[in-house]
Amino acid sequence: MTTPIQGFSKLSKEEKINWIADNYTDNSEATLEILKTYWNEDSVLQKLHDEFIENTISNYYLPFGIAPNFLINNKLYAIPMAIEESSVVAAASKAAKFWLDKGGFKTKVIGTQKIGQVHFIFKGSSEKLQVFIDKIRPILINDSRAITQNMEKRGGGITSIELRDQTKKLDNYYQLHCKFETLDAMGANFINSCLEQFAATLKRESHNYELFSEDERQIDVVMSILSNYVPDCLVRAEVSCPIDDLEVEQSVSPKEFAEKMVRAVKIANVEPYRAVTHNKGIMNGIDAVVLATGNDFRAVEAGIHAYAAKDGSYRSLTHASLEDDIFKFWIEVPLALGTVGGLTSLHPLVHLALEILQKPSARELMQIVAVAGLAQNFAAIRSLVTTGIQQGHMKMHLLNILNQMSATEDEKKTLIAHFRKNAATHSAVVEALQNLRSNL
Ligand code: MEV
Repeated sequence: MTTPIQGFSKLSKEEKINWIADNYTDNSEATLEILKTYWNEDSVLQKLHDEFIENTISNYYLPFGIAPNFLINNKLYAIPMAIEESSVVAAASKAAKFWLDKGGFKTKVIGTQKIGQVHFIFKGSSEKLQVFIDKIRPILINDSRAITQNMEKRGGGITSIELRDQTKKLDNYYQLHCKFETLDAMGANFINSCLEQFAATLKRESHNYELFSEDERQIDVVMSILSNYVPDCLVRAEVSCPIDDLEVEQSVSPKEFAEKMVRAVKIANVEPYRAVTHNKGIMNGIDAVVLATGNDFRAVEAGIHAYAAKDGSYRSLTHASLEDDIFKFWIEVPLALGTVGGLTSLHPLVHLALEILQKPSARELMQIVAVAGLAQNFAAIRSLVTTGIQQGHMKMHLLNILNQMSATEDEKKTLIAHFRKNAATHSAVVEALQNLRSNL
């Protein structure tokens, strides 16, 4: 059995690799070789990646692809996506092309407000606490000037500080519920720094507040942290067209297709098991762009799923309607994104992704990301209600299966041609490759 290690982070990279290889893998040499294969030859670039996190031993690649032809508010975008799932970029590109000659995507930012909270315990009169908070609000804002001044110069900053009495949920529990405008920054560091300053001011001022009793002066700050639930940092993206323009497959009329789409969305709206998969498909698009642009996909995921459950039941993030012979399909999602700070200027591919997107503001990026989610959902439901998902998915997955079986380039060429006309299941691909090899 391996024993715990002390001071792992202090070891050199080589020492870390040796330790992991010796203790956790069967073949030390092979482990070393795999890890080194993914190192970058450019030592400066490698060092940059090494220093993103602690204990880096190699790099983990994801494909970085492009989905072109996205017409968004009459501007044409090629959207960079970082994702491993075979069919996602193809599906996005197909949806983009489908809507290209139908007016494209129309988007609107509904709000950009971010939230942070100081959670604290106060044993005393809530009326007195409210008076106290109203009195110290200017002091809270003034004490955080050093943190906020640059953001304020650009038009952002703290927009409100409100006391929330949560004692019905938990004894003596209150919050400073604070709102922020962080412009092009995702704002996590800005918000958390402000909140920690608010907490320090809150404690200091409560000690000196003469109307508090001795108990009331002992405000206990539990934690100060932003919320990744950002229902007012919201964006909407929409496509629409006359029903007659929805010619997708020969086997289904435009009207029938439109009705099936609307029904599929309605099912995801009332049925959580379906809603989760439906929204997972949306996240295929959203996460891929969020990741390519160096944003925090975990924060985005958490916030979006909370939003999907905002009325107590987990529901579809997209909506569809048929009215006056017009098909309308739209999404509303909360997205706290940044186009400055974080990895945006540090990671060369992130920098390039933002350049490809024509250096968007955070507001523009919110709109692009929402479009990627909507397009992905359109493509998924389109397949689901017509051909089924496997046809397109397996077509894209074919290369993975062939690579797993070490197919040569010639074998791949032959079998790709073969599966253009035949259904590509895993067993059919294996069989076709075996047949091909035995016929030689
Ligand atoms: C697969 O990654 C995503 C889908 O399951 C989404 C959906 O079912 O809507 C195809």
